[in-house]
Amino acid sequence: MTWPACGTETDRGSPGAEPAPEALPELLPRRGRDGSFTLYSSACDEGFHSAAGALREANEKFVVPAALERFAPGRELVVAEVAVGTGTNTAALLAAATTAGLDLDWWGLELDHRPLALALADTGFRAQWPAAVVGRLEELSGGDRLRLGDARRRLPELLDTLAGRCDLVLLDAFSPQRCPQLWSLEFLEELVRLLRPDGRLLTYSSAAAVRRCLQDLGLELRAIRPPADEPERWSAGTAASFTPVAPHPSLRPLEPFERVHLASRAAVPYRDPTGTATAAEILAWRQREQEQSKAPPARLPQRRGPAGLGRSGGHR
Ligand SMILES: C[S@@+](CC[C@H](N)C(=O)[O-])C[C@H]1O[C@@H](n2cnc3c(N)ncnc32)[C@H](O)[C@@H]1O
Repeated sequence: MTWPACGTETDRGSPGAEPAPEALPELLPRRGRDGSFTLYSSACDEGFHSAAGALREANEKFVVPAALERFAPGRELVVAEVAVGTGTNTAALLAAATTAGLDLDWWGLELDHRPLALALADTGFRAQWPAAVVGRLEELSGGDRLRLGDARRRLPELLDTLAGRCDLVLLDAFSPQRCPQLWSLEFLEELVRLLRPDGRLLTYSSAAAVRRCLQDLGLELRAIRPPADEPERWSAGTAASFTPVAPHPSLRPLEPFERVHLASRAAVPYRDPTGTATAAEILAWRQREQEQSKAPPARLPQRRGPAGLGRSGGHR
């Protein structure tokens, strides 16, 4: 069996498995503009992070919008992370939590053990954080809190323990067009069951299909503000919660054009009723549904066009 483009589990997702090297999708080490370690996946033809850099992205799209200052020091936050990859988000959150006097009860889902191993073997990656954070990441990488395999198959195990308990759910899969398996209505429906009523799901995606699912599942949406030095972008992602999200400098209500966009054909969801479909199947079903849809075509303001829909200007 060869490694499928972006997604379906094979036994190569586990450290114990020894696949033929030529069958493994290539993971190429890269540095972002901020100098931080990242990877490029040849199987997905997509970078793990935007060109701005992994560390910058982790802070701007996950750590800052998590608003850790909401929590009293001493509190233990329950966190579930989908698509752990290099562990950059994990380490950035661990470091920020330590500074805020918080502890993390962390759980992660990831298909492939290699991104985290490659990151931990990189001296530049390790130098980004205090030794205690790197030590904790090493512990997590070998522990049972990191569930390796297709997130669709492993999510039910997390739900057994964590349903309704998560303060934060971080969703950082490859882009919906590359890895629709982890953006389907069915997957999101299960994923949000992890959240406490006031828990917060954070993702870099501003895609209408993702936002519309979250909204239809009963969550309130906020856009993550793009950084000031990227004025051409209208959103850097989405924060969603079952209860109103308190105002925060990194978040804003959706603008009217974004709400209109949620009623357009762009909001037709990715569907994966059995939780076993391939990326190609999910994309083909959605395309058919879009062609048959009576919803108006997507129309976004020109200036802030499709670049805002992908990962950092369509990077992934
Ligand atoms: C964009 S990268 C994640 C970036 C990561 N958060 C980081 O900071 O490095 C997407 C990750 O999703 C993983 N992945 C792809 N398909 C998956 C699946 N079906 N289940 C779980 N993980 C998956 C890939 O192995 C990859 O590590």
